[in-house]
Amino acid sequence: MAQNFQDKTSKISAVASWVPDYILNNDELSKMVDTSDEWITTRTGIKERRILKDPLLATSDMGANAVNELLKKRGIAPDEIDLIICATVTPDMLFPATACLIAEKVGAKNAFGFDLSAACSAFLFALDCGDKYIVSGQYKKIVVVGADKMSSIVDYTDRKTCVIFGDGAGAVLLEPGECKDVGIQDSILKVDGAGGEYLKMVAGGSLNPATIDTVKMGQHYIYQDGKTVFKFAVTKMADVSEEIMKKNNLKGEDISWLVPHQANLRIIDATAKRMNVDQSKVMVNIHKYGNTTAATIPICLSEWESRLKKDQNLILAAFGGGFTWGAIYLKWAY
Ligand code: UT7
Repeated sequence: MAQNFQDKTSKISAVASWVPDYILNNDELSKMVDTSDEWITTRTGIKERRILKDPLLATSDMGANAVNELLKKRGIAPDEIDLIICATVTPDMLFPATACLIAEKVGAKNAFGFDLSAACSAFLFALDCGDKYIVSGQYKKIVVVGADKMSSIVDYTDRKTCVIFGDGAGAVLLEPGECKDVGIQDSILKVDGAGGEYLKMVAGGSLNPATIDTVKMGQHYIYQDGKTVFKFAVTKMADVSEEIMKKNNLKGEDISWLVPHQANLRIIDATAKRMNVDQSKVMVNIHKYGNTTAATIPICLSEWESRLKKDQNLILAAFGGGFTWGAIYLKWAY
């Protein structure tokens, strides 16, 4: 068993994503609630989002599709996976964990797995967790999934939230890095529970189990105080990105790619500006998918994969309900 973690790293060795075919664009949404393409575009940068329409399909199906693609790309069999960590705020059900359902669907017979709940920061928290299992020497192949069927908890009569969210999934494979200059270099992750009241789903847990009243009051939908969340997000995501750069002696020009959580184009722009990173180096696909919560970052990595080069410096940054936020610095491995 490895004792010295210092010179060990984990690396992302493959990445894949899956989004539903059905596109709900701003004009269609404007027929459902009192909003407009102009309002949504200028306030958020979103033009359309994907919706998983089939009522028989859930988060685990999107996650399994992404994982199957991942395994195909890396050319490995499902029974080689040691661990599946599923970052999600929309598990198929409270239990069993969605990671177990994904393991079953992809045939990962030798893997254990669990879900990680940290809302929009969950993929980063899960990636960091996977990294620690690899550098400890205990496991060699870890799949980190970010998947959310946000349409299952969105109230399509509430224009304050329904315009923002969409469905999708992404996955990465983590394996041991060859040397300390490859793969995940550093992470800074944070929570502030005082922010919990501003972005939450009130009912369905042990505090407010489902009743006819919780359903009538719409407490199984996302509640968000958008203005307050925006204020925190725009500051904290930039703060933590700046902090990880300083800690690793990185300047704006050293960053090859900023991979930000896709919640609002204004938050992404503010973060890039504070980091002094040019817009051409910022992964942005919010116009196509909206906010897919835990899936935004792996979907970005997957879409940009062909443009990534070995040794490039990437900063991954996110902010979400909890509040939760963080940044990961990694050197691309292939
Ligand atoms: O991903 C996890 C973390 N989440 C975030 O980072 C989201 C952070 N928050 C935001 O991105 C923004 O707060 C929103 C996009 C959610 C809202 O934008 P905003 O600029 O903060 O708008 P607002 O909530 O302050 O609302 C401004 C006005 C209000 O009207 P009045 O009171 O000024 O007359 C709203 O009723 O815009 C109205 N409004 C809308 N109008 C048309 C709110 N939603 C809509 C809408 N269409 N969809």
